[in-house]
Amino acid sequence: MMPNTAALPTLRVAPLQSSDAARYRALMLEAYELAADAFTSTPQERAAEPLTWWAQRINNSQGVVLGAFAGEVLMGTVALEFSAKPKTRHKAHVLGMYVKQEFRACGAGRALMDTLLALAAKRSGVQVLNLTVTEGNEAALRLYRSVGFEPFGTEPMAIRTPDGFKGKVHMWRRV
Ligand SMILES: CC(C)(COP(=O)(O)OP(=O)(O)OC[C@H]1O[C@@H](n2cnc3c(N)ncnc32)[C@H](O)[C@@H]1OP(=O)(O)O)[C@@H](O)C(=O)NCCC(=O)NCCS
Repeated sequence: MMPNTAALPTLRVAPLQSSDAARYRALMLEAYELAADAFTSTPQERAAEPLTWWAQRINNSQGVVLGAFAGEVLMGTVALEFSAKPKTRHKAHVLGMYVKQEFRACGAGRALMDTLLALAAKRSGVQVLNLTVTEGNEAALRLYRSVGFEPFGTEPMAIRTPDGFKGKVHMWRRV
């Protein structure tokens, strides 16, 4: 990939706080709109959720939501969900990865994943991470491969898009 020559002023990755709920909501609604095929939710579905829904997503003891900041701008995010069930507590699910278009190819996606991997390694009992990517999303597939995820199968007809059904590639990685 060609690096973006407009380097980020400062790139900071940190867990989001309740006070970030409004800008997290705005970022994810943009994601569902502009990268529609990458997500199973629609902007309409999620816009209907109250701000408290987003705050709860941030303030969840069974997960963490990371933000990537350029100065004060929240320009990227990714989330990790843990499992409370005894038989699946060793697994955690990566979701909601998005970097605003104008900040792409600057390393924000990789910085988010690196921080997420470090957090997962610190969480007692978590041994496996998994995620899904829509078939054909080469940027995301390459990013995930570059931090150690491997594909192990594709769910056919996983989502309906304006261009027809698309599959979801399932990927996993040991912690
Ligand atoms: C996927 C996404 C998060 C990548 O974010 P990013 O900040 O641009 O990624 P980075 O700059 O950190 O790049 C890291 C690696 O990702 C891969 N990558 C990123 N953009 C790429 C592109 N356009 N084409 C091919 N590979 C790409 C490369 O392996 C890159 O490493 P390299 O620079 O050493 O080649 C971003 O494109 C995005 O938000 N896409 C829309 C939403 C989406 O698809 N989310 C994933 C849902 S599963």
